[in-house]
Amino acid sequence: MKHTNLFKLIFFFVCVITSGSVWAQRSEQLLEKGWRFTKGDVKGAETPGFDDSEWEAVTIPHDWAIFGPFDRSHDLQNVAVTQNFETEASVKTGRTGGLPYVGVGWYRTTFHAPAGKQITLMFDGAMSEARIYVNGKEIGFWPWGYNSFYFDVTPYVNKDGQANTLAVRLENRPQSSRWYPGAGLYRNVHVIATDDIHVPVWGTKLTTPHVSVDYASVKLLTTVANADNKDVRIVTEIVSPEGKIVAAKDNTRKITNGMSFEQNFLVNSPMLWSPESPSLYKAVSKVYADNRLVDEYTTRFGIRSLEFVADKGFFLNGKHRKFQGVCNHHDLGPLGAAINVSALRHQLILLKDMGCDAIRTGHTMPAPELVELCDEMGIMLMVESFDEWDIAKCENGYHRFFNEWAEKDIVNMVRHYRNNPSVVMWSIGNEVPTQWKPEGCKVAAFLQEICHREDSTRPVTCGMDQVLSVLDNGFAALLDVPGFNYRTHLYTEAYNRLPQNIVLGSETASTVSSRGVYKFPVVKRHTAMYDDHQSTGYDLEYCSWSNVPDEDFALADDYPWTIGQFVWTGFDYLGEPSPYDTDAWPSHSSLFGIIDLASLPKDRYYLYRSIWNKQSPTLYILPHWTWHGREGKNTPVFVYTSYPEAELFVNGKSYGRQCKLTVEESRALQGKDSLWLQRRYRLMWTDVVYEPGEVRVVAYDEAGKAVAEQTVRTAGKPHHIELSTPHHTLNADGKELAYVTLRIVDKDGNLCPTDGRLVNFRVKGAGTYRASANGDPTCLDLFHLPRMHVFNGMLTVILQAGEEAGTLELQATAKGVKSGSIRINVKPVK
Ligand code: GAL
Repeated sequence: MKHTNLFKLIFFFVCVITSGSVWAQRSEQLLEKGWRFTKGDVKGAETPGFDDSEWEAVTIPHDWAIFGPFDRSHDLQNVAVTQNFETEASVKTGRTGGLPYVGVGWYRTTFHAPAGKQITLMFDGAMSEARIYVNGKEIGFWPWGYNSFYFDVTPYVNKDGQANTLAVRLENRPQSSRWYPGAGLYRNVHVIATDDIHVPVWGTKLTTPHVSVDYASVKLLTTVANADNKDVRIVTEIVSPEGKIVAAKDNTRKITNGMSFEQNFLVNSPMLWSPESPSLYKAVSKVYADNRLVDEYTTRFGIRSLEFVADKGFFLNGKHRKFQGVCNHHDLGPLGAAINVSALRHQLILLKDMGCDAIRTGHTMPAPELVELCDEMGIMLMVESFDEWDIAKCENGYHRFFNEWAEKDIVNMVRHYRNNPSVVMWSIGNEVPTQWKPEGCKVAAFLQEICHREDSTRPVTCGMDQVLSVLDNGFAALLDVPGFNYRTHLYTEAYNRLPQNIVLGSETASTVSSRGVYKFPVVKRHTAMYDDHQSTGYDLEYCSWSNVPDEDFALADDYPWTIGQFVWTGFDYLGEPSPYDTDAWPSHSSLFGIIDLASLPKDRYYLYRSIWNKQSPTLYILPHWTWHGREGKNTPVFVYTSYPEAELFVNGKSYGRQCKLTVEESRALQGKDSLWLQRRYRLMWTDVVYEPGEVRVVAYDEAGKAVAEQTVRTAGKPHHIELSTPHHTLNADGKELAYVTLRIVDKDGNLCPTDGRLVNFRVKGAGTYRASANGDPTCLDLFHLPRMHVFNGMLTVILQAGEEAGTLELQATAKGVKSGSIRINVKPVK
């Protein structure tokens, strides 16, 4: 027996023993370590005796494509993107990130299954067209790479306690995606062992039919497998966020025809779930049959109410609010698609600080870890399923599977997440070409119906971009919540024509920008392209189908029937480098993000923050103030602030005070000032002339009192490397990450905002270097190698804790500047 197998066997016994009695009712094992992987198709790789010793040793989650190299030839697509109004095919480079995700990959490992138990294998997601083999037999296929799926493998496992061989074959076709999908077993794999009589995967359905501040009713439906005609007793305790048992029921009933077991509870003075107070309860159920305890199952939930009211909008717990949301693709930038909880947490902390309260999982099922974190941290979710139905957007896209798999995929998605309080809406699709045709209504109705059947508590939406068609053909009218992508000029018409009388901005803005890049003259325009393949940080550039953020702010402010928005996107992602989404290699990652691929906020972050974050003030100046050759030239200064008024000084000279304009004041400028709308949301001094020195802004509150100030200074010569992190302590779990921000600064600590030098990293001690990124959508430096160019003076290094406590140290060196180092404390896992 190999060491890894022995380790797994010991681990399995430990799990089982610590979870209660020997062979307790239920145990769960994550298959993380001890996998072997190879790229390419291999004959006989599923057979137990196959020699995989030459294959690469990997840990799951694993994304085989993120290690690159980047290349123009990877998944070169010759297509007409009809959603972007293209009528003729043209070459698209970098559309899926320029990474080698296409092809076949095999994974192999072994696992132990206790005798006499039901064994279920669960995959949180496998990219893609997964074929699963246990002990040489194919036990299942699941094509859609983003969905979770499971198989009962009881008949296939060894009954004598011997190790079982698990082999997984994955295949990604070329032209199967519009963004970087990742590749491989990029999400977790679980082995679940239960009694024959047990609560199956996603076997409870918990709803809260009545919610008020005084009391809530909680209804729990539990499915018990293999219990037909048996007397089943379920003892359920409802545990409050503080750990107190606040309600309990002990019921015994005969199960007939697979009926679920219903229990109802009353919770007095419930702590309601909301983004501001994400209170979580637990229903802990003990299931007895044949006079013995057969299962113990916990359902985590929140108590909250959702209402979508015609003309009035969206209400959470009876309180009106508008979604301040972002859309995100699933990749984690330099980590690729491989899921990591602390990377997700880092993203959510940044988004919450911006005032964001919702995420749309564009255009795929999320990782379960994301949904759990959103429950815990307070982010509402629109969980989306598909980018394609039965009509192709990509030659080898999901349409190949839709007719056979759509229902199974929606069922798994809804059953998986119907108890999660963060999930407030289901989305059955995004800009599906089917929306053009009347037959599209049938498909939409079919998918919506499945969601309703599986979960009657949440509304269903769909991101629609062909607004006039869907208003004409009934597609938009049949959805619970009509969601529109862009086309802000059609919102009022949609509101007037639709029976729902509400409008959701399911996808908004698609403003493009690069961190720290500023283009002159400063004008608002679409499809602006430059030799450096970047877009301006003045946040005035967008795509031909889209707009700048101010339009969406105004729609939220001016119309009660708009229920909010999901900005495209919160984070930059790999692939779709619009407006350089043509034959424009080396562009290969997006410019849409409010935050760049290195998780560094762009200027736009502060614009959204200034409007959305009502708790903590924002005062932010752009552009940087270190220009060579702009002396004497017009260099507008924008200030993103939550304060109503501010005064700008350049080297002590005032450029005057400005106030954010009211609706009427800004409308009065329409036709005279191209930035009339922006003047409601941004303070803009457009006549500033550049001279080295300092730009200072002093902000005033409503009473006219000076309350805050900010300064940006011209940087001197690059002097040293500055390292900082919010993650000073990590758990020694082998997974936790520290995001370290690296800045090239002058001797006084001012950022050198155009620096682009190469930095080398050395990591010592209790962990490893995991990846780095700089946010430049054209940069071909590989994330996993310990060197990276800074982009506009900054980059991010990601360190990973080891499994032993100690100190983790990063040293960063670069030519011409003093090196930097930072230490992180890695503490034992409790
Ligand atoms: C939308 C689409 C997104 C993304 C975006 C870019 O039309 O739904 O997936 O492509 O455009 O602006």
